[in-house]
Amino acid sequence: MNIFFIVVICLSTSWIGTASAACQKHQAGSSNIQNKAEEPIILAPLKDGIEAVLLLVPGAYINAAFYEPLGVAIQTTSSLKLWVGLVRPFVSDLPNPVQCSDDIEKTLSMMRDQGMVTSLIAVAGHSLGGVVMQDWISANLANVTSMILMASQLNNAEVANSSLATLHISGDLDGLEEITELEPTFRRLESSVSQDPEAVFRKPTVVLRDVNHMHFASGAPPPLVQSDDILSPLSEEEAHALLAVHMSAFLTSAMQAPPDEVADARALLQQDFYDTQDIMRPLAEMRELTSTGTLSPFATIGQQILSNLDPLFYSSLFVNDTSYEDLAPFESHQPVSTLVGDVAQVNTYSLVTDAGPLSSYSSAEELAIKFKNSDDLKKVLASTDAVFLDSNVTCLDVNQEAINAALSSGGVVVTGRYESRGRPILLRPDSAQQTGPEWLNAPVNYTLTDAGLEVQSASLVTAVSVPFGFDGMYYCKLMPPSRALEYIMIDSLRGTQPVARH
Ligand SMILES: *[C@@H]1O[C@H](CO)[C@@H](O)[C@H](O)[C@H]1NC(C)=O
Ligand SMILES: *[C@@H]1O[C@H](CO)[C@@H](O)[C@H](O)[C@H]1NC(C)=O
Ligand SMILES: *[C@@H]1O[C@H](CO)[C@@H](O)[C@H](O)[C@H]1NC(C)=O
Ligand SMILES: *[C@@H]1O[C@H](CO)[C@@H](O)[C@H](O)[C@H]1NC(C)=O
Ligand SMILES: *[C@@H]1O[C@H](CO)[C@@H](O)[C@H](O)[C@H]1NC(C)=O
Repeated sequence: MNIFFIVVICLSTSWIGTASAACQKHQAGSSNIQNKAEEPIILAPLKDGIEAVLLLVPGAYINAAFYEPLGVAIQTTSSLKLWVGLVRPFVSDLPNPVQCSDDIEKTLSMMRDQGMVTSLIAVAGHSLGGVVMQDWISANLANVTSMILMASQLNNAEVANSSLATLHISGDLDGLEEITELEPTFRRLESSVSQDPEAVFRKPTVVLRDVNHMHFASGAPPPLVQSDDILSPLSEEEAHALLAVHMSAFLTSAMQAPPDEVADARALLQQDFYDTQDIMRPLAEMRELTSTGTLSPFATIGQQILSNLDPLFYSSLFVNDTSYEDLAPFESHQPVSTLVGDVAQVNTYSLVTDAGPLSSYSSAEELAIKFKNSDDLKKVLASTDAVFLDSNVTCLDVNQEAINAALSSGGVVVTGRYESRGRPILLRPDSAQQTGPEWLNAPVNYTLTDAGLEVQSASLVTAVSVPFGFDGMYYCKLMPPSRALEYIMIDSLRGTQPVARH
């Protein structure tokens, strides 16, 4: 679930007039606070030092009052004389740009009435709140020192283009603003870091292990968060303390205050960059294994499996894949195998289908590959000493390799979570199709149940005696390795109980 869906479903219908029925049903849990005569909440500084302000704009259906524990944790961690303002009220506790601007100004003016005089102002927004606050920020860029997007996205082009210090902070167990949604932002950071190492401090993207969507707030989650978020082994207090350390370092680095702590804050943000790179790396690896754009490297692995060659003789096989994004050229190409020296060279063809706009997944939906079958390769390699096994390999076995690749790329944390609490991927025997058109129309079949994700490939196998160049084929509609990883990292964990850390 992308937070922009909430914007589309709710914001458009709800904040101007009466809330729609679809939105009303989410009003429960943490939002059960009367907001008639509500005022912003001001948390006065806990210590002396350089004065600064942090405003917190709440997420959808969570009253700002539920951000007090995070605010206090940051005040406690930071050496700044930090005012925290919990921005409200919002109609139905649904942050919207119009009220947000008024509420932010009111929060600041209440602070000034209580004696705040600083111009070091940071604005942080959670989820939908992070999106709607950007209107006020873009109109007040000169008055804001830094911005924090807590499990949220940068969507205002003017703010994005500005030099405003901006932190994206999120958790790898966020079930609403998933790390797959944040990964493009991190990739942009990686490419700007190669030009300008300061980007790590000016525009950091930080993903923390075991933090989920509700961890920025407190109390009972609203129903939408309840149903999609991933339970974490961290308590609310542990998560607030962890978030406070990283948010406070960003404030210190962005505000250059207090000056004697800037070096340590920068060191932490630099380490956060490397740690986030480790968390994100498998997503990039599996995307590139699925397709580089011109070919699918996974075709080599799939063809090795379906060749049924003894793995000691995989060097007898050279796979040259061509990847298409459109059906027409994919439909009209058949794989070809030829003997070059002692090696069977197979030209395979692949087609990557992206997830649709309504899909809850970010990774590719399907990887269709036209392979040659084992009988064909036995014929091609007959004159060589290549040894074949006699197991019965199918598209199912190639899907198993996608899972294996995802787990080995994911590493110990991802594998440990999946094995201890994840709902497994259950591979079903291939659904055998009889003709090319039938196969083209039969998608890889995903069925999500309480037991796990059932995956079934559609296959098309032809005998070596079939004429007209259609001989010895093995066509598979596969689960892309990137999809296996996304399910393993995120979806398999929803609705499951956390296993204690350590
Ligand atoms: C923004 O800064 C300008 C110039 O320093 C000041 O005049 C203005 O009152 C500030 N606006 C807010 C909302 O604080
Ligand atoms: C953002 O910057 C790019 C490149 O400098 C520019 O082309 C674009 O017009 C800018 N967008 C806005 C909204 O300022
Ligand atoms: C791989 O296939 C492409 C397209 O079918 C072809 O142009 C290219 O020459 C092949 N490469 C090798 C090494 O055979
Ligand atoms: C091999 O697998 C296919 C597809 O699952 C099945 O139809 C066939 O009976 C199997 N053959 C053997 C020998 O197990
Ligand atoms: C997809 O798989 C499920 C169970 O795994 C099965 O019940 C369903 O019939 C399959 N759908 C198609 C179109 O094959």
